[in-house]
Amino acid sequence: MTVHIGAKPGDIAETVLMPGDPYRARWAAETFLQDAKLVNEVRGMLGFTGTYKGNRVTIQGSGMGMPSLSIYANELMTEYGAQTLIRIGSCGGMQPHVAVRDVIIAMSATTITSPSSGIFKEINFAPTADYALLAAAVAVAKGKNTTTHVGGIYSSDVFYSERPDLDEQMVRHGILGVEMEAAELYTLAARHGRRALAILTVSDHLQTGEALPSEDREKTFGDMVEIALDAAFT
Ligand code: ADE
Repeated sequence: MTVHIGAKPGDIAETVLMPGDPYRARWAAETFLQDAKLVNEVRGMLGFTGTYKGNRVTIQGSGMGMPSLSIYANELMTEYGAQTLIRIGSCGGMQPHVAVRDVIIAMSATTITSPSSGIFKEINFAPTADYALLAAAVAVAKGKNTTTHVGGIYSSDVFYSERPDLDEQMVRHGILGVEMEAAELYTLAARHGRRALAILTVSDHLQTGEALPSEDREKTFGDMVEIALDAAFT
């Protein structure tokens, strides 16, 4: 047990999928894993371990935002020995060619600030995905009907931005979408020598104002979970 995860030693698999929403963790575990067992419910941040095509995998909620994800990812890496961590989440589209329901595989994650900003001081560290995981996810996604984009995303500290100029600079520099967790996941994976990737479904769009109706989310989210699971075990 750690401060925020009640799982026993050995309850957590080396491969961990991390949705922000704990109820998505439960849905994904019930839908895609065999013999899924609840291994954590501290603070309602549900985690499940089961198997996918014979491989052990944990699906653990991360909560919203980099400080919350940092707690779970740190404990998973340093206390439970997680080796491969894949964020599965939603993001806001930032380019005209990126549509709601599309999937984004995040090669890099730009930030203004993150929980790691304090240690980097003058360094502009570039949080980057694990290349082998990224390449595997791109290959798996080619076999799906979902339109997939690969490129940079923006990990923001705020959902309700008061700085439209920052979003404009991201758009201008080709950033595909905005979310709130991936940069810190990539940074922690780099620090601890682990593999990380973020795969995101576009749930809303900053330019068009379109938002995915909740009943549509499950199907699109499902493609993303399958891409993550198949990529993890490629
Ligand atoms: N996650 C999903 N949509 C988002 C948005 N528009 N901004 C930040 N995080 C998000």
